[in-house]
Amino acid sequence: MRKKIIGTSWKMHVNSIKDGVDLAKQIKDNLGNMDSVEIFILPTFPMISFLKDILEGSKIGWGAQNMCFAEKGAYTGEVPPQVLKDLKCQYTEIGHAERRKFFNETDEIVNRKVKLSFKYGFVPIVCIGETQDDLDNEFGSIRLKTQILWALDGLSREEMKKVILAYEPVWAIGKQQAASPEYVQNMHEFMRNFIINEYGEEVGNSIRIIYGGSVSPESSKLLMKQKDIDGLFIGRFGLKIENFKSIVSSALV
Ligand code: PGA
Repeated sequence: MRKKIIGTSWKMHVNSIKDGVDLAKQIKDNLGNMDSVEIFILPTFPMISFLKDILEGSKIGWGAQNMCFAEKGAYTGEVPPQVLKDLKCQYTEIGHAERRKFFNETDEIVNRKVKLSFKYGFVPIVCIGETQDDLDNEFGSIRLKTQILWALDGLSREEMKKVILAYEPVWAIGKQQAASPEYVQNMHEFMRNFIINEYGEEVGNSIRIIYGGSVSPESSKLLMKQKDIDGLFIGRFGLKIENFKSIVSSALV
């Protein structure tokens, strides 16, 4: 059985320590004892140590929205994996569409960061997804296959099973509505079958594929009913505790 996941990246929406601390405390107070769903929060780097103090001892995990592809050295402005380990991060988000778009993150860099994540004991959440342009040119499936091959290349089977793939069609991020549950289910099934063909049944049936892109309390219920959707990755619509709670409840079945 693949454990269900509800994760949230606060991106830069939560943009003060006070707001981050308040929201993290509310999430902990409301959801901190939940066993049946894996919950994690990814704040901006400087907030991580505050969240660690709040969330330690609860069932809620935390991690970073990015990490340097190198372990140390002259990389001005970057954050090395060891610092994230010191802050007891459990997750690293890798290759989000906004990082690919604004910070030139490539599939090759994604692969380096995934490998480094395992070296330091983090679970990598690898974001993949086709753009509207890909769809218009019928490149959607080759885009996903390519991103999956880059994400998993060079990992052991045991490591592959631990990766969380976040399917985030770029055209569905930052919109009023998520992609339809049927569309997402079809894509997840396609990806799972591709992984089974490439790496075998065990990896394909163990790897968790979550969906992100304009998920709201309204859309979460039907999305979570689909058999290949193992969880949700929440952006704007999870920034209020009532909404986040409601989305988490959609994973309780
Ligand atoms: P959004 O962000 O829900 O605000 O569209 C989702 C994401 O990018 O993970």
